[in-house]
Amino acid sequence: MTDRIVLAYSGGLDTSVAIGWIGEATGAEVIAVAVDVGQGGESLETIRQRALGCGAVEAYVADAREEFADEYCVPTLKANGLYQGHYPLVSAISRPVIVKHLVKAAREFGATTVAHGCTGKGNDQVRFEVGIQTLGPDLKCIAPVRDLALTRDKAIAFAEEKGLPIETTAKNPYSIDQNVWGRAVETGYLEDIWNGPTKDIYDYTATPEFPPAADEVIISFERGVPVAVDGVKLSALAVIQELNRRAGAQGVGRIDVVEDRLVGIKSREIYEAPGAMALITAHKHLEDITIEREQARFKATVGQRWSELVYDGQWFSPLKRSLDTFIEDTQQYVTGDIRMTLHGGAAVVTGRRSGTSLYDFNLATYDTGDTFDQSQAKGFIELWGMSSKVASSRDQRVAGQ
Ligand code: ARG
Repeated sequence: MTDRIVLAYSGGLDTSVAIGWIGEATGAEVIAVAVDVGQGGESLETIRQRALGCGAVEAYVADAREEFADEYCVPTLKANGLYQGHYPLVSAISRPVIVKHLVKAAREFGATTVAHGCTGKGNDQVRFEVGIQTLGPDLKCIAPVRDLALTRDKAIAFAEEKGLPIETTAKNPYSIDQNVWGRAVETGYLEDIWNGPTKDIYDYTATPEFPPAADEVIISFERGVPVAVDGVKLSALAVIQELNRRAGAQGVGRIDVVEDRLVGIKSREIYEAPGAMALITAHKHLEDITIEREQARFKATVGQRWSELVYDGQWFSPLKRSLDTFIEDTQQYVTGDIRMTLHGGAAVVTGRRSGTSLYDFNLATYDTGDTFDQSQAKGFIELWGMSSKVASSRDQRVAGQ
């Protein structure tokens, strides 16, 4: 039987050419797999037809938007997942859900190998292949750009020579990856890290310098999951989409960073993640009133480590799973409402309320009703400083000898 290869298909030039390119190089039949994670653009049916037109023997398409929101974006929100404190892991969390569908399609269609369109310089090749190795240890991986010398120029020549139903002239100087959690833009003019991003780079966000009137929004959470906007119950996907629109209109969530790739390269990326950044801000503020201090401090460390694992392609790893369990446990009381003002590039929290809050007005107040016994502070401070005081007197003694 002819060997079968499942290809992660985007509908763009590179993966369209990859169908025939892989076929010619390996003699295998290619099955195109397109997964909708809320990247917008063309319909799955259009993409399916193009794959078949480019020579795929089968085309598998999956609307994974709700799955992506519930099982990938929401856990990232619970972790307040920001790699290097900035990047909300937009591309990093989409790879594992795509991998799940690739492996599923490989089983359905009897494929032995999975192919993807990544280069050999980035993180995504690692995320795809580590994910595939983990979920389908018997499956082989191939990356035509990296392993079969499929350069851009060759892709254009191939598409023209074979008359593939794909545009070869549209010239976008940037490499873009987008989904409902955000959008990543790199290469071209941005590779000079002193160059400021030009306006044409942005799509999810309007220019924050000229914002419309301020927009006040109330986001409701249940155990860390966003469940409503302005009192209207919504799925996690719909909450993210709604905030992408409203925070995006105010220019919230533009990020310009040089980040550390897993492969050792520092690279410049522009992100826009209006919904994600508004949600992470709101979620963090709700945690501030509902999570006990020591648990909250430790959770910040866990969230950072979690983000590194996810960035580094370890979504399906045992450590990531253990950290998920910890994070999930911390969300038990993260239920309540956050009011925030979206305006001029900022999402600023202005109020919070929760039936499971740890905020105690009577302990906090400086007015009448104060129940805090200030006389206990003196002894507490004495003991709190004791070990440093003992060490300091030793230091002075030694220095004086
Ligand atoms: N640097 C980001 C990451 O590694 C995004 C990668 C994809 N970016 C792109 N513009 N194609 O997760």
